Amino acid sequence: MTKDRSITLEPIQSNGFEVLRKTGIAADTNKPEVQEIMALLKRSDTGKIPFSKFMEKSLYGQFGYYSSGKVEISLDKTTDFITASERSFFFGATIGDEVVRVWEALGSPDDFSVVEMGAGEGGMSESLLEYIKIKSPELFEKIRYNIVDLGKELIPRQRERLSKTGKQIQWVYGSATELPIANVNGVFISNELPDAFPVEQVVRNDKGELGQMFVGIDESGEWTEYWGEMTSEVSEYVNKYEIKVGHNDYVAINLLAAKFQENISKALNQGAVITFDYGALGQPEKESDVRSYAKAHIKKGDSGRNIDWKYKFVGDVDITADVNFKVLEDVAMDNGLSIAFTGQQGDLLQMMGMDEVMRLIVSNYKELSWKNILKVSKSMETFGMFHLGFYDFYGHILTKGVSSESVLSSRSRDERLLKFKIKFPIPGGKAGDTVIIDYKRGERDEVEIEEIDENGMIEVKPHALVDSKFSRDKRSIDEPDQVYYDFKGKDDLMKVLQEIGIKAD
Ligand SMILES: C[S@@+](CC[C@H](N)C(=O)[O-])C[C@H]1O[C@@H](n2cnc3c(N)ncnc32)[C@H](O)[C@@H]1O
Repeated sequence: MTKDRSITLEPIQSNGFEVLRKTGIAADTNKPEVQEIMALLKRSDTGKIPFSKFMEKSLYGQFGYYSSGKVEISLDKTTDFITASERSFFFGATIGDEVVRVWEALGSPDDFSVVEMGAGEGGMSESLLEYIKIKSPELFEKIRYNIVDLGKELIPRQRERLSKTGKQIQWVYGSATELPIANVNGVFISNELPDAFPVEQVVRNDKGELGQMFVGIDESGEWTEYWGEMTSEVSEYVNKYEIKVGHNDYVAINLLAAKFQENISKALNQGAVITFDYGALGQPEKESDVRSYAKAHIKKGDSGRNIDWKYKFVGDVDITADVNFKVLEDVAMDNGLSIAFTGQQGDLLQMMGMDEVMRLIVSNYKELSWKNILKVSKSMETFGMFHLGFYDFYGHILTKGVSSESVLSSRSRDERLLKFKIKFPIPGGKAGDTVIIDYKRGERDEVEIEEIDENGMIEVKPHALVDSKFSRDKRSIDEPDQVYYDFKGKDDLMKVLQEIGIKAD
């Protein structure tokens, strides 16, 4: 280990800890991100810290990945990752439609707030507000829009982007797990937030005993994972939610997600909570360690395992764990909320009336800005909606003071769920055209459109959409790299835009 002049580590005590995994990765002690963690290690009696502390400093420390704004979310493959908010205008727009419905269910009050937590680059807020401007100008005027974010350096980026919406927004720099808000009439929304909360990881030692994972740097300067006894909070959580841990599993225990759910449930007076994230209703399947996301140059320069990036590139990569929605729902129900709908992301979006939203957007092309028209076209062209239906994204809408029926779109459940999987609006699409799906492993599906209905909807059944289930292994085989509609070139798209009265250059 290269000795840092200001911080030296005490020899590690053995009291009750066992080495779980030597990572083989030397801690880069010259890096300020690492030094921040070393200071914590030094302060602890044992020279080891619970995994959550490591994750917290890596993401939200002074030099952390989110707090210092290193994260970049966009469709561009050189950035870290893409979220539904940045992938498609329809995502935020559909949530916007839901916000209108909740407002109406409450009797269209003057006092109505949206609290968006963890806004990232601001894509969801932008589409949501642009959509509400079209759908309900009255609500657009009345709505109080608040963004709570712990990414200090992300807030100026959000501010700049969202100034174009023309809506005054209130920013709160802080954690959604410690919300300084009460008596909210309105909607709490988040996409990919609780997966970013620092988690503990429950593991078994060689004797099969349950414990939790601690992180340290051993005497040779290597990041090392240790088995240690569970804290009472972790152990209570494991018992209460009947968490199962196999021999080589690392199971994420997201104590903060439960706290987050309790706080927002208490802060909500009347309205709804909408949460989308990776995960499942219950313990996510085959959960083995948290994952990391990184920029292209990191991925390229590293042939190692994804789970080691968090040690190799401390503070430069995302760290995330799938969310157990069952825990969120139990906490919500204990705090007076009801479940209006819970399910896969695509199903929830459909229950919120996504296909109607798409129709409205298409028929309102002329009222959208040119930038948004391109965004909508791009979403269709790249089949943005298809991606929104992936099975490992989960979501729910919880309510208080309004009926479940009043916040869901009006058509029957079966009809909605069935339609989502097979129908997409494509302006200018025609029978005989092709939908192309490129899979990551180089395979390609070409699906011929058999029929197009009078609303311009086409019917496709790509096999990944029909067959894939929530499973990490399967996802790596089935996940399409790119899915797009073959417009037969840009000229066709331009022709379509001209036909509906848009001047395209
Ligand atoms: C994965 S990004 C998702 C961004 C955005 N919702 C989207 O869909 O693109 C996580 C976001 O949550 C924020 N965040 C993480 N922990 C938070 C917390 N405890 N309270 C508030 N925001 C948090 C991060 O700064 C970031 O903006």
